[in-house]
Amino acid sequence: MNQEKRYILRASLNLCVFCFILQIDKCSAVDPQFVVCNKPVNCRYGPRISFPFYIEDVQKSYCGYPGFGLNCSEQGFPVVHIAGNEYVVEDIRYQDHTFQLKNSVFNSSVSNGCVSAIKNVSLYNRPFDFVKKSKIYLLSKCDGSISQNLSKHMIEFGCGGENGNDWGYAMIAEDESFESALQVCEKHVMAPVEMLGDEGSNRDVDYLVLLRRGFRLKWTAANCSECVESRGHCGFDVNTYQFKCFCTDRSHALSCPPSTAKIKTDSRHSFLLHRSCDFALLLEKKDFLAQQSQVLGI
Ligand SMILES: *[C@@H]1O[C@H](CO)[C@@H](O)[C@H](O)[C@H]1NC(C)=O
Ligand SMILES: *[C@@H]1O[C@H](CO)[C@@H](O)[C@H](O)[C@H]1NC(C)=O
Ligand SMILES: *[C@@H]1O[C@H](CO)[C@@H](O)[C@H](O)[C@H]1NC(C)=O
Ligand SMILES: *[C@@H]1O[C@H](CO)[C@@H](O)[C@H](O)[C@H]1NC(C)=O
Ligand SMILES: *[C@@H]1O[C@H](CO)[C@@H](O)[C@H](O)[C@H]1NC(C)=O
Repeated sequence: MNQEKRYILRASLNLCVFCFILQIDKCSAVDPQFVVCNKPVNCRYGPRISFPFYIEDVQKSYCGYPGFGLNCSEQGFPVVHIAGNEYVVEDIRYQDHTFQLKNSVFNSSVSNGCVSAIKNVSLYNRPFDFVKKSKIYLLSKCDGSISQNLSKHMIEFGCGGENGNDWGYAMIAEDESFESALQVCEKHVMAPVEMLGDEGSNRDVDYLVLLRRGFRLKWTAANCSECVESRGHCGFDVNTYQFKCFCTDRSHALSCPPSTAKIKTDSRHSFLLHRSCDFALLLEKKDFLAQQSQVLGI
């Protein structure tokens, strides 16, 4: 190989390396938060979980919004704890900013969990509000003599009968027996439910149907739609305590600028980008360049 040929070869190889470095640079420049919050998640069962919700042990909190952390229960359902109660998240309507909850005491359609363990719920300091709140009173530690008026309100508690009766009463707040039930029961709590149509006016309310259906909450958090439409991933910056839209280049206030959106939509470009990232890894791993130089004898 003469001197001139060797020079041209070396120059073109350098150019080639330069090109790769440009591509590698592009590859490493993809915002890490964009990548981390890219994965859709869910528990074994239940709805798809995405912004503003996130699963505490599975995702980074910055992929969600403060106050929207969920856990997966041992049974594989997404759950949230509010005021000492565990609620199963049944359905999430991202368009409406509403979700359906039910107390996990009522998660089975055949038997109740320990009803007397339910605590009064408060949404104080939570980014949630009831869509349509009705209340059912749950009375426990009640006197054994059951009057005729109260018998239709009796419900089974699945507490194992440890602390007294394994039953109690359920009734809506307006029920005329409420005062007399208060006389014979030591403890009462209010459980939120949502009555549909004329359910409340019906005299024979099926309390268990209502309790097992649960209720809806409306949430207050930044609207993610614009960010998603611009191909970003919604998230949160704890330092500035603000909503963020994670884009391929960096995080933005509301949505991704058109140029970065284009990179994502242009699948061919995206493919090339990924290929060059793969290639960058290959270079690192196998010292590909050194090998090539030897082969070429330069
Ligand atoms: C999730 O579980 C952890 C540990 O048990 C607990 O500290 C946290 O409050 C739970 N979060 C929710 C949203 O229930
Ligand atoms: C969120 O924004 C989208 C479009 O910007 C709008 O259609 C939607 O109604 C908004 N959602 C809420 C709950 O405000
Ligand atoms: C319902 O929740 C209780 C308490 O969290 C749990 O022990 C039980 O296994 C759950 N049942 C179902 C069917 O998920
Ligand atoms: C049962 O209800 C009737 C009217 O519905 C009332 O007159 C009566 O006093 C009630 N009895 C008890 C023990 O509360
Ligand atoms: C639950 O709330 C109701 C109404 O505020 C109250 O009367 C009741 O004593 C509370 N129960 C407990 C166990 O705190």
